Amino acid sequence: MTLAIDMLNAGYGGKDVLHDVSLKVDAGETVTLLGANTAGKSSLLRSISGLVPQVRGKINFNGANLIGRPAHTIPELGIAHVPEGRHVFPLMTVYDNLLMGAYTLRRKDGLDARIEAVFALFPRLRERRNQAAGLMSGGEQQMVAIGRALMLEPKLLLLDEPSHGLAPIVVDELHEALLRINATGVSVLLVEQNAQLALSIASRGYVLESGRLVLQGSAAELRANDEVRRAYLGL
Ligand SMILES: Nc1ncnc2c1ncn2[C@@H]1O[C@H](COP(=O)(O)OP(=O)(O)OP(=O)(O)O)[C@@H](O)[C@H]1O
Ligand SMILES: [Mg+2]
Repeated sequence: MTLAIDMLNAGYGGKDVLHDVSLKVDAGETVTLLGANTAGKSSLLRSISGLVPQVRGKINFNGANLIGRPAHTIPELGIAHVPEGRHVFPLMTVYDNLLMGAYTLRRKDGLDARIEAVFALFPRLRERRNQAAGLMSGGEQQMVAIGRALMLEPKLLLLDEPSHGLAPIVVDELHEALLRINATGVSVLLVEQNAQLALSIASRGYVLESGRLVLQGSAAELRANDEVRRAYLGL
C-alpha cells in the first residue's frame, strides 16, 4: 500500500483551498496531518475520497491515479474514510451501523468474521450491539464510525478529527484503539487538531497552514519544533 499525493491543488467554486500539497503514506504507517481550523485538512481527505469538485495534481494509490475517479469507486480500492462529525445512523443499532459499512461490498460472505474483528477491537460495541447508535456517548459513536469503516477491511484508513469533542479519558481509549488498528497492518492518515494525541500515535507528520504544507518530519522532530510546540502543543 502506498498513497502518494503530488502537487495537489483542490478547491470549490473556482477557488483553491489546497495549494501544491505533496505527501506520502507508506505501508503500515500512521501519518498525521496537523493544522488549525480551515487549513484544508478535511478537504485533503475529501480529495482522496473523490469528494472535492476541483482537483489537479496527482493522487496515486498503489499505482492507480485517483483523480477523476467517482467517489463510490474509492472504497473498493481499499480506502475507508471516517468523516468529521462521525455521522453514525442514530436510529439504527450498533450492529446495523457496522453492517452498513459493508453495504457496498459485492460479496456478502464473511460479514460475521468482519463484525467479530470489530468487536474484538472495540469490546464496548459488542456489549452495546443492540443499542441505537444515537443513544451512545460521543466516544462510543466514534468507535461505531471507525468500526463501520473497518468493515471494508481497508488498506488505508482516513480519519478526520476522531478526538473532536471527546473527554480526555475517552481520548486515551481512542489512542489505544488507533494503536491496535495500526498494529493490524492498516495504514492510517490521521487528521487532528489534538497534536498531542496525533504525535503520540503517528510516526511522521505534516503541518498544513492555509492550504499549504509548511512543515514535515518525524513525530519526534515535530514535537521538538518551536512552531509546533507554540501553535499546536500549547507549550
Ligand atoms: N463544500 C465546500 N464549499 C466551499 N468551500 C468549502 C467547502 N468545504 C470547505 N470549504 C472551504 O475550504 C477551506 C478549508 O476547509 P476544510 O474544511 O478543508 O478545513 P479544515 O482544516 O478541515 O478545518 P476544520 O478544522 O474546521 O475542520 C475553508 O475555507 C472552507 O470554508
Ligand atoms: Mg475539517
